[in-house]
Amino acid sequence: MNTTEVLQLLRAHEVRNVTCIAPDGSWPVVWTRARGVHVWDAEGRRYVDLTAAFGVAATGHANPRVVRAAQRQLTRLLHAMGDVHPHPLKAQLARELSRITFERWTERPRESASGENQPLLTGKTLFCNSGFEAVEAALKTAVLATGKPGVIAFEGAYHGLGYGALSVTHREFFRRPFRAQLGRFAHFLPFPEAAPDRDHDGWLERLADAARRILRRAKIGAVLVEPIQGRGGIRMPPPEFLPWLRRFCDEHGALLIVDEIYTGFGRTGRWFACEHTGVVPDVICLGKALAGGFPISACVGRADVMDAAWPESRGEALHTSTFAGHPVGCAMAMAQLSEIERLKLPERAALVGTWLLERLGALRAPRTGLRLSARGMGLMVGLEVRRRDGAPAGEEAFRIVKAMLRRGYILLTEGEHGNVLSFTPPLTISKPQLRGAIAALQNLFGGPIPG
Ligand SMILES: Cc1ncc(COP(=O)(O)O)c(C=O)c1O
Repeated sequence: MNTTEVLQLLRAHEVRNVTCIAPDGSWPVVWTRARGVHVWDAEGRRYVDLTAAFGVAATGHANPRVVRAAQRQLTRLLHAMGDVHPHPLKAQLARELSRITFERWTERPRESASGENQPLLTGKTLFCNSGFEAVEAALKTAVLATGKPGVIAFEGAYHGLGYGALSVTHREFFRRPFRAQLGRFAHFLPFPEAAPDRDHDGWLERLADAARRILRRAKIGAVLVEPIQGRGGIRMPPPEFLPWLRRFCDEHGALLIVDEIYTGFGRTGRWFACEHTGVVPDVICLGKALAGGFPISACVGRADVMDAAWPESRGEALHTSTFAGHPVGCAMAMAQLSEIERLKLPERAALVGTWLLERLGALRAPRTGLRLSARGMGLMVGLEVRRRDGAPAGEEAFRIVKAMLRRGYILLTEGEHGNVLSFTPPLTISKPQLRGAIAALQNLFGGPIPG
């Protein structure tokens, strides 16, 4: 099927709201194949994917070891019985998730004959299918563990669109049509953005005041936060933010839940973004890159917190779903995690990301009347586009994305106004591949942006 045929079918039979189809054919392209950092469309054109398809393809699209793990699993055990009859890989993956999170975060040298390190904490996992569901599992964990239903979340936050997750997602666009059916347990605080051109004096006092006001009227069992807001526009908080949230949660008996669905698995230059400030959360939500392209996600909590929250099963699980802990997803995740480790992708993302941020930071667009500013960490970088008067240039940003698509680069816009070009490529991307993208952008900004 060619592009036109696919889009015609979608127009006829998919809900209208899903795929944005430009009448002039400039958007979207139809993906038929992907490998490494490349994607091919239905017309055989090749693109460099600067999005890793929402950050999923961290080890590259169709990483051969991940694919082989999936193929082996497909022929052996395609489906098991989630919460009833388990399969070995689920146990192994839960063990692995504990190792790379709580155990690694709290490892202390042991004074034993063997000289082995001994972690202070271990983790326990609740497997889910998508990111939003992992967030909802974390919300359930918090209310079960603390008995307090209130949740502090942040302006600009994106935690997914299921009703539980939507209740803690901030953007009005997603909330408005469903407001009457949303839970009312979320209380939003401003997300303190560490932008150099903004005045942040006293931000911590203001935040603490606002948090205290919330505590006076609600029983808060959890603070839910993205260490860097991804879909909110690659917004980075000051380094003091997460440590302050940790102290706040400790003082007020709330769980600190970090949503690392976007930032996890090396994306920001560390295995997890919370590691940049040394903060150990109570619960971490994981998804996207976990399996490199299979809908599997995880809510991983400190073992003692999870045990306090979730009672022993007597035959009926409180939170489960048909495909939870899917064997193919688990097999892929095991391979994906070992690829991230083998290829040292967090270190690579840190190095290549610093280089990318510098280059994007040097871009100017004098002939377009647009102001650009770059920010980010590792290979999670945003290029904000504003008009000369400072207004967010969402339309222009989308035109840039379309123009880049014509030049063979897949990009996305993020942020409430869609005016942040986001760069979240596979962590395997090379500098020459990025150099091409930067040259194409520079070329575009050298003249007026095509409509
Ligand atoms: C930080 C964060 N949390 C949750 C989600 C929701 O994940 P999913 O779309 O897999 O439900 C996303 C998706 O972009 C995300 O970026």
